[in-house]
Amino acid sequence: MDAPAMVSFVTRNREHLAPYEPLRDAEYFTERFWAAHLQRSLARVEAGHDLPFILLDRDTPRSAIVGRCTFSEIVRGSFQAAYLGYSLDASHVGRGLMQEALSAAIAYAFDVLNLHRIMANHVPTNARSAQLLQRLGFQHEGVAKAYLRLAGEWRDHVLTALTNPRWRSGPPEDAP
Ligand SMILES: CC(C)(COP(=O)(O)OP(=O)(O)OC[C@H]1O[C@@H](n2cnc3c(N)ncnc32)[C@H](O)[C@@H]1OP(=O)(O)O)[C@@H](O)C(=O)NCCC(=O)NCCS
Repeated sequence: MDAPAMVSFVTRNREHLAPYEPLRDAEYFTERFWAAHLQRSLARVEAGHDLPFILLDRDTPRSAIVGRCTFSEIVRGSFQAAYLGYSLDASHVGRGLMQEALSAAIAYAFDVLNLHRIMANHVPTNARSAQLLQRLGFQHEGVAKAYLRLAGEWRDHVLTALTNPRWRSGPPEDAP
């Protein structure tokens, strides 16, 4: 998906996403920023570091982006793990769409990428995120103090993770 569609998504959802993201400057809402960011992102995908997905409406796939989810900081070797982040357009919340998208993305991460562990963390007040992760089977692992700087403040985070019951040993997955 291209830079204008990303600018539209982040601009439409500026207030909705602000509590869960770092402070954004004006540049973040420009096509110039997103063109450069998507280019860098592609390089990270090709290197196997990240795997971003966008969510599109099944009936109108050429219209706006309705959400995003990303596996990031993919580590191989003896960890075989990644972080998971996600956000949904404000007008699409409450319909089970992120659960559907993450179920498919996690199946890909486990069965195709053969990751062993997916970590997803949220601020304690993000009830929707907590419920979503619980429904997907993520296990509560603890609370990290002052874990991420969101909206300009260091925020405690609930740490959760899901492990892959179908993980397969053998090369190339567990090569160093
Ligand atoms: C976190 C976020 C993606 C959750 O969105 P969501 O729509 O609640 O997530 P789900 O896909 O699990 O949908 C669950 C809701 O859909 C409803 N729903 C409707 N049909 C459904 C179906 N077939 N299956 C499951 N849920 C369904 C559920 O009842 C629930 O709504 P409710 O809580 O009002 O009862 C969204 O709130 C968001 O983008 N927040 C801002 C960004 C953010 O917090 N990112 C994560 C930071 S950790």
